[in-house]
Amino acid sequence: MGRIRIPTEVANFLKQEGSQRLLVKGDAGTGKTIFVLSLLRYLSRYSQGVYVSTRVNYEDIYRYTPWVKDKIQKDNIIDATNPEGTLLSMESELRYNSAGDFVKIIADKCRLLNVLNMKYGCVIIDSWESLVSNIPYSKTDTEIQLERILVDLSREMKVNLVLIVENSEVTRLDYVADGVILMEKKLHHENRVRTMVLRKLRGIKIVNPVYPFTLDGGKFQALEPESVHFKTKKSKRFRKIRASSSNNTSSGMRDLDNLLGGGLRKGSLNLLEVGSGVGFAYIPFITLPIINALNTGMSAIIAVPEGINFSLLKEKLVIPFVKPSARDNFLAVEETYIPENELPPQITPLSIARTHKDFLDLLEVLRERLNNPVLQVVGMDNVEHKYGFSNIQSDMGRVSSQNRSSQNVTMLVAKEGQDITPHLGHICDTHMRLETINKCVFIEGIIPKTGLYHTHFYSSSSGPAVKLTPLL
Ligand SMILES: Nc1ncnc2c1ncn2[C@@H]1O[C@H](COP(=O)(O)OP(=O)(O)OP(=O)(O)O)[C@@H](O)[C@H]1O
Ligand SMILES: [Mg+2]
Repeated sequence: MGRIRIPTEVANFLKQEGSQRLLVKGDAGTGKTIFVLSLLRYLSRYSQGVYVSTRVNYEDIYRYTPWVKDKIQKDNIIDATNPEGTLLSMESELRYNSAGDFVKIIADKCRLLNVLNMKYGCVIIDSWESLVSNIPYSKTDTEIQLERILVDLSREMKVNLVLIVENSEVTRLDYVADGVILMEKKLHHENRVRTMVLRKLRGIKIVNPVYPFTLDGGKFQALEPESVHFKTKKSKRFRKIRASSSNNTSSGMRDLDNLLGGGLRKGSLNLLEVGSGVGFAYIPFITLPIINALNTGMSAIIAVPEGINFSLLKEKLVIPFVKPSARDNFLAVEETYIPENELPPQITPLSIARTHKDFLDLLEVLRERLNNPVLQVVGMDNVEHKYGFSNIQSDMGRVSSQNRSSQNVTMLVAKEGQDITPHLGHICDTHMRLETINKCVFIEGIIPKTGLYHTHFYSSSSGPAVKLTPLL
């Protein structure tokens, strides 16, 4: 379960001098309540805040978001679901049947908790509509009166006010507020994607106006675009991940192994489809399996995808993380203009294979040079450009049957839009697709079918690693 992550712009907005009024808007089930509870928890590092629930009572908050029980003090949650009864967690019994009563109770509670005048202190009301309907009298009068006194309270007492609004339409409140954020959920292919749109945040430069987010574990976690950058410093340990079954080999990424149902099966063909806009963010998905294969006693061959230089890939992204005794078990076929006699012995130029059959023969010769079972990574973009779609297509039966009768694992890397890609989807045992949504990179299983997972790259003490977070 991930940790809470609030978009930087929203956090900075609430940390400004003075007090801000923020609207959190969204249709039912978009994650407004989980977001503000997460926000309260986040701000508790700096300050005090109260969460006033006018719709959902204590028990239900704990039931739906169990982490709240340990992480947010009971005193900071006000159960205001029943205007006729006790406002739970208050010392004395108080009823609110006017806007003024309600605000007075909240102000008293804030005084008790020292929220007022505290930097970044905040009062969260969930939700505006239910509060208005809880108070007898005419709806319009109540709304206008409530709005005025709440805004005054927040200004005078220097406390941030966060109001949850249960719809996404622009209303008068949007103009009164200093900040407006909108929570949305949409379908992307067959998967749901939640996004937070930063509509306005006075005083703050909005660098990233839309954040995809997940509610995994009942916590709000904004997902941010990130660049793929691994420190190349030598690892202290060499990571070795073993698959749970001897029929499989690990992809070098535990999270991906889980998605694949226990890693890559020996003798399998696996397709990694790279969507447009992913750029080089697919590289860890080939280097990590290679590193792990080498560290666990397999060999590796790569037919280098377009735009990648084998020597750089090897020296910077693979070898520093591979145990010394296995470093020679890595061979490459590369499109190169360096004369064959000047190439290092591990590299064979693609040009010596005139046809696709020659290319397959060449891979076979290389496999024989290596004793162990082999992980083969084949950049299908180069192969398709060189040999043409129809030639490759007619040879795929050979690739598939050869692979199945061996202990080798083959990963085909194909770009979205290549002619061969849909065809490969039909013959491969697994099919994973990388794609970007709002500048973030996600992976999705087509075979086996999975949801979307956000990819996060980081350097661990035993080398580069990938964390996948489900988009829930
Ligand atoms: N532990 C969890 N893991 C993943 N998703 C969760 C988890 N708990 C809740 N959710 C998702 O969060 C959604 C509800 O979030 P939340 O209650 O914050 O929405 P809301 O916008 O406040 O809804 P409402 O308008 O009904 O008050 C649920 O639809 C559910 O899909
Ligand atoms: Mg809610």
